[in-house]
Amino acid sequence: MGLLNGKTALITGAARGIGKAIALKYASEGANIAFTDLVIDENAENTVRELEAFGVKAKGYASNAANFEETQTVVNQIKEEFGSIDILVNNAGITKDGLMMRMSEAQWDAVLTVNLKSAFNFIHACTPIMLRQKQGSIINMASVVGVHGNAGQCNYSASKAGMIGLAKSIAQELGSRGIRANAIAPGFIVTDMTAKLSDEVREEWCKKIPLRRGGTPEDVANVALFLASDMSSYVSGQVIQVDGGMNM
Ligand code: NAI
Repeated sequence: MGLLNGKTALITGAARGIGKAIALKYASEGANIAFTDLVIDENAENTVRELEAFGVKAKGYASNAANFEETQTVVNQIKEEFGSIDILVNNAGITKDGLMMRMSEAQWDAVLTVNLKSAFNFIHACTPIMLRQKQGSIINMASVVGVHGNAGQCNYSASKAGMIGLAKSIAQELGSRGIRANAIAPGFIVTDMTAKLSDEVREEWCKKIPLRRGGTPEDVANVALFLASDMSSYVSGQVIQVDGGMNM
């Protein structure tokens, strides 16, 4: 008996990286998986096949999480095809780093829209469904830099701080209706997003981590499983840092 048997999880930006690891973890615990990404290419279709190998229903949907109308449409389609949406993981995210003095308006807008407005779009579209079901778990993917800040990432840090405020507000608004909302704040996780960093930057990060290694997508997925399942039925409005002890 899996921890998520009979549940449907919707995960944004899950064709690869942390989102994919969460999808696989949930599927291994019996959840049906609907995920979105910008394009559903061969890589995303492979993810679907890996998910189906757990004996669950799985489908990838091409949808830009930053677009309000597209989100409404895709959520309606998922509800139609899966019957329910019990778990929502707002995972899609990008970086466009730069110091404040050199940051363009386009860099700011892109990161805030993809990372934060996308979560508003999905929560707005999914909560009517969760309210009718009288239960739901919403997980916003934040970051340690949303808690502590980071030079060169003012746009990204602001978007991730927003994800935390959004989760806490939803937890307060909808807790009485059986809906929980929490945030995960990963530290340095080895994915395509961090592959862009130079070896020096990576080594500097690792020196600050008591566990002396970068995290894996599965390290984050384990916490996402806890927050999605009834194991965390009395946990709401929290931020869980998954960072090897980097920030205490
Ligand atoms: P990644 O770059 O490997 O994967 C991100 C996924 O989101 C990709 O599949 C991408 O196509 C998708 N995506 C991007 N824009 C989208 C949009 N507008 N609509 C739909 N999908 C979109 O990144 P990673 O590392 O897996 O990150 C996942 C989340 O975790 C992000 O929100 C990121 O900010 C967060 N995070 C990652 C950390 C890390 O060290 N890798 C640390 C802290 C937070």
